Amino acid sequence: MNFEQAKKLLESKGQTQLLRYYDELDEAGKAKLLAAIENINWEFEDALKNPVDLSGKDRDIRPIAGLRLADIAKRKSEYEAIGVEAIKAGKVAAVLLAGGMGTRLGVDGPKGAYNIGITKPLYIFEQQMRNLAEVNEKCGVRVPLYIMTSDKNHDQTTSFWKEHNYFGYPETEVKFFKQDMAPAVDYNGKIFLETKDTPALSPNGNGGWFNSLCRAGLQKDLHEKGVEWLNIYAVDNVLQRIADPVFVGATIDAGVNCGAKVICKTEPKEKVGVICMDGDKPDIIEYYELTEEMANQRDEDGNLSYCYGAIMNYLFRLSTLEKIVEQKIPVHIVEKKIECLCEDGVTRKPEKENGKKFETLAVDLIKPMGSILPFEVVREKEFAPIKNKTGVDSVESARELLKGNGVEL
Ligand code: UTP
Repeated sequence: MNFEQAKKLLESKGQTQLLRYYDELDEAGKAKLLAAIENINWEFEDALKNPVDLSGKDRDIRPIAGLRLADIAKRKSEYEAIGVEAIKAGKVAAVLLAGGMGTRLGVDGPKGAYNIGITKPLYIFEQQMRNLAEVNEKCGVRVPLYIMTSDKNHDQTTSFWKEHNYFGYPETEVKFFKQDMAPAVDYNGKIFLETKDTPALSPNGNGGWFNSLCRAGLQKDLHEKGVEWLNIYAVDNVLQRIADPVFVGATIDAGVNCGAKVICKTEPKEKVGVICMDGDKPDIIEYYELTEEMANQRDEDGNLSYCYGAIMNYLFRLSTLEKIVEQKIPVHIVEKKIECLCEDGVTRKPEKENGKKFETLAVDLIKPMGSILPFEVVREKEFAPIKNKTGVDSVESARELLKGNGVEL
């Protein structure tokens, strides 16, 4: 794309601010900016013009049946045997979603490289890989591992894994792939510049993970290995159980297209999105969308009817993912603090939210998947999220939970 073409395109889009510093740039800078403009994904315009109604008012929301801890305990060894068999046969792969920017934690570099140790280093990636190593040992195989990164952290993530000898995996068995990026805009919908030659782009959420995996050519790899199930998980839960044989077995046994590890809400008002049904399809309803009556509704055993909070650990059937890969899922518009070039020509991160990012979410895949098994886990044993530095869901709270599970820090 040359300057004239870029100018014409941006005029038609109302985004000529991206060329504001063009004349000041050297030849390399000019070429970089023009290439970046050519590669902008304009889907965000539609999301801004026609925001998806996420209020749930037109949905036919009902409770969903799931497996509670007591149900799982009754058939644990049966589920485990099914799961171990599937893992041994190479049918289960793990996909780590690590393309996020971890802005709330506020550290440079990939969140998984964060050291949560106290007396000795213990990195988030390392702790998660310890959990996976237990499964590998039990099943006598190595669960294939795929890791999603983004332009913002790919190089740092891959060098970190290399430095740490891929946490016990052979280098060739850890496959990295990059997710897509979306522009970040101000409150008037104008794309920010991050520097004079770079529009501000951010990872476009974790919902596009399967498209990105396919675009990276890894679908073939999955088929060659005989993979049938993909266990996706978030980087920020340090108690994450990956390829948990009991979960795998229960999902296969249920004959569904997807399993979701969930924690049960302890009180009606807990601020967590819950899995539900929308008519005959599984869906998620946010805590603020639940009416008072729904939030308090209980089943005949006295349990809250809307209680299954998802913890970003899902098992997806590969053949169904392949059928739905072209289906559109909602684009969420999120207000964030966006690092951008200020009037004085310096790039800064603002103190408060200054614009919007566009994200699709993995949880929105559960509707197109068509069926789901909510599988309850013990919160204190499997859920230690690190979103913030201190307070709720923080490094501090995760450390306490790790200690409670006998992990030496
Ligand atoms: P979060 O929703 O907590 O986002 O991600 P984040 O970017 O890590 O953190 P904040 O909001 O900026 O503080 C949940 C999981 O999804 C991954 C994250 O890496 C994490 O494992 N993720 C998130 C992606 O892989 N890509 C994205 O674009 C966003």
